[in-house]
Amino acid sequence: MTQPVINPPFWLLAELTYRCPLHCVFCYNPVNYDSIKNELDTDAWIRVMREARALGAAQIGFSGGEPLLRDDLDILVAEARRLGFYTNLITSGVGLNEKRIASLKQAGLDHIQLSFQDSTQEMNDFLSSTKTFELKKKVAALIKKYDYPMVMNVVLHRHNIPHIDKIIEMALDLSAEYLELANTQYYGWAMKNRQQLLPTREQLVAAEATVNAYREKIGKQCKLLFVVPDYFEERPKACMNGWGSIFLDIAPDGAALPCHNARELPGLNIPNVKEHSIQEIWYESQAFNFFRGDSWMQEPCRSCSEKEKDFGGCRCQAFLLTGDPAATDPVCAKSPNHHVVKLAIREAAAVANADTSKEFPLVFRTDSNSKRFAG
Ligand code: FES
Repeated sequence: MTQPVINPPFWLLAELTYRCPLHCVFCYNPVNYDSIKNELDTDAWIRVMREARALGAAQIGFSGGEPLLRDDLDILVAEARRLGFYTNLITSGVGLNEKRIASLKQAGLDHIQLSFQDSTQEMNDFLSSTKTFELKKKVAALIKKYDYPMVMNVVLHRHNIPHIDKIIEMALDLSAEYLELANTQYYGWAMKNRQQLLPTREQLVAAEATVNAYREKIGKQCKLLFVVPDYFEERPKACMNGWGSIFLDIAPDGAALPCHNARELPGLNIPNVKEHSIQEIWYESQAFNFFRGDSWMQEPCRSCSEKEKDFGGCRCQAFLLTGDPAATDPVCAKSPNHHVVKLAIREAAAVANADTSKEFPLVFRTDSNSKRFAG
């Protein structure tokens, strides 16, 4: 068994708020977000950033929800830059008018990642349950005007993956330098909608071929990143690059999480920055140490030659699919539970081939739906 070496966190994700003007069906936020109150105030966030930076964190992502809903965003960005962080805003674009982007630029914001739901207004607005498509295009122009690299993100699933060529064309029209085509990860709201969102294998194969053809055609004009959904892989992803390894997520209420979904896992005592320093949380807390190293692993992970590479996969996925957070991620073909992933693919394909919108209606991320899941 390997004793874990604990390196400092590298990447601090500041989930400033779970509030969001959009209602995306694939959102990874907790489904009961409505019951999670008491957002950290400006001073608390500043303390978190100072302590994380002092430990060695180098990059910060401001995310949510929609981080632009926080009036103090430019104050936080300015402090992050002063501390020496590389600063990244992850946004739907809603609320990013010219005055706001000018003030963020002045605060020293380094990078903006703008999400779209699709290349068509109809699907973009349907999936987010808002009328935001035209607004996002205006925001894309503002991002260019203020001299930022244009980084577009589109979460892919069964409903928009057939439009992948149009999505790439839209990115080229908007002069994007990077386009992240990230297949949905099945947590939070996306897990509730999995049967309606999981693409078919045929869709994936076709999409990957289209991406590769565009890579040939456009060269370095726009870098296309295509992330295959791990349900279709034979080996699990190295989730978070290993538990408590580089990633520190602070949720809006101050919960310190080794990954976005860790709050859902049984057996963890989730620490809060209102009660503990970042140093204590990172090095000493039960939650951050729980899945470090390999002593927690079961077979087949424990004796697997690949365990240093994938760390047994994703703990949250293992829990969601098997009920045991220490199980081998069922995405792995060596897992005794691999059949549950195969079954999910088969079931979703059956749904895709039938008109099932009534039997499996999409669950939108809304406050009232969240209340239903608050339990
Ligand atoms: Fe929690 Fe993968 S999302 S460990």
